[in-house]
Amino acid sequence: MNNKVDVPPTLRIAGALPLAPAPETTPVRIHPRYGHLVGGRLVDGPTDADFATIEPATGKVLAQVGTADAALVDAAVASAREAYTSVWSKMPPAERGKYLYRIARRIQERSRELAVLESRDNGKPIRETRDVDVPLAAAHFFYYAGWADKLDYAAPGRVARPLGVCGQIIPWNFPLLMAAWKLAPALAAGNTVVLKPAETTPLTAMLLAEILLEAELPPGVVNIVNGAGATGAALVKHPGVDKIAFTGSTEVGRIIRRQVAGTNKALTLELGGKGAQIVYADAALDQAIEGCINGIFFNQGHVCCAGSRLLLEESIAPDFVARLKRRIEALRIGDPLDKNTDVGAINSAAQHATVCRYIDVGVAEGARMWQGAANEPPAEGWWVKPTLLEGVDQTDTVVREEIFGPVLSVLTFRTPEEAIRKANDTEYGLACGVWSEKTSKVFSTAHALQSGVVWANGYNLFDPASPFGGVRHSGFGREGGIHGIWPYVRLGER
Ligand code: NAI
Ligand code: MG
Repeated sequence: MNNKVDVPPTLRIAGALPLAPAPETTPVRIHPRYGHLVGGRLVDGPTDADFATIEPATGKVLAQVGTADAALVDAAVASAREAYTSVWSKMPPAERGKYLYRIARRIQERSRELAVLESRDNGKPIRETRDVDVPLAAAHFFYYAGWADKLDYAAPGRVARPLGVCGQIIPWNFPLLMAAWKLAPALAAGNTVVLKPAETTPLTAMLLAEILLEAELPPGVVNIVNGAGATGAALVKHPGVDKIAFTGSTEVGRIIRRQVAGTNKALTLELGGKGAQIVYADAALDQAIEGCINGIFFNQGHVCCAGSRLLLEESIAPDFVARLKRRIEALRIGDPLDKNTDVGAINSAAQHATVCRYIDVGVAEGARMWQGAANEPPAEGWWVKPTLLEGVDQTDTVVREEIFGPVLSVLTFRTPEEAIRKANDTEYGLACGVWSEKTSKVFSTAHALQSGVVWANGYNLFDPASPFGGVRHSGFGREGGIHGIWPYVRLGER
């Protein structure tokens, strides 16, 4: 594999100094083909249904990946069961914790490789993978390593027993971080796992597989099976699985919920969102603008908790939108491996088509569309410039449905009651932001919002110690904090 980075032509900001290219050059080895991790070994699996994972910034194939069929999923579940009964559930919790610390340290040691690989496979800028995804993934392993031997104190008078074998299905927007969110609490609590990465972003999970082997995690404690929906469905339906944890679309979440109903399987779902950013006139406006940019544009809007609806107090709306547009004009879109890039590539051709279709629907329903960026995106690959949709209503499709792209709908309000009513007028309930100088207003608004998470004067802020999750159609169950342990244990009498 040639790891040389193609340096793009100098990026230009309209009216500003041109920036020299600043490519991240850490080499990362990409194998021509990837299989699966089963029973502590990297295995090939069947080769008749390989699929390609593509670099979104170029549209070119990065590697071929095998599809785990029902037989391979069965082997993975059997190996997880064997590891559960013979090793992992019997191991003193402090020993389990040591493995998690080891994994966390190895993620840190190989952090730049992971960041480069994530940026190439997912399309998000290196600044995000290097400064957010990878450090947070390590932090989750460190955090849950600490809980492994303290669960008896977390549930006084009771004993927290693991559930058994967990099937975990994750999406493509934060591939490594979602793997860490799922694996760390499950393993800390004494469960074993079969993990299914998303089919457009399997590569960091396979580098994590290498890390698990380097950490000498006992065979079968974590198994990784690649494939698309059919592989995920085989895992969901497998009778040997005790718990399913899923993050992804609301549509697939509904299918999984129906399949799990009536079985003994435990279930947690983390689904879509339609987050609102409520900006009161008394807010620190430049700070709020940064929060809005961070909330929807830095990850191409590929964020379940994205702040995709901007609710502006009417008196500041024109000024705020003008300032927001100026800020957007300074964003650099392009090569995810350039350290100056703010906005990367859309993850797949399918997602690109979805986002473009939503923009068209928005315009057809009467929205005024505005797009900006300091430079033109490259000709190859899948790109959508940061987009504002103004003049929209609560009833418009783009205000109601999750777009999962860099598209921000702009609405206004006159009173806090109107802001709260509009923010809550959605089937989702994952995250919201409130911007105001007055703490009392922040609290009264936050308490009235039907949302799993509310950020005050900030957005997309994460810490492993802080629980995250939704209400309503955004799902149920929490990840992060001690709350993230409860979905992986059964509390019983001593
Ligand atoms: P998806 O829900 O189809 O994919 C998520 C994961 O579920 C992947 O690993 C996929 O292989 C797996 N999967 C698909 N069908 C399955 C089934 N029947 N049984 C078990 N597993 C299955 O999401 P997709 O199609 O990639 O994106 C569609 C939309 O979903 C996006 O436009 C976005 O709106 C939303 N989405 C939300 C995410 C979130 O974090 N809440 C993440 C990804 C997508
Ligand atoms: Mg890919």
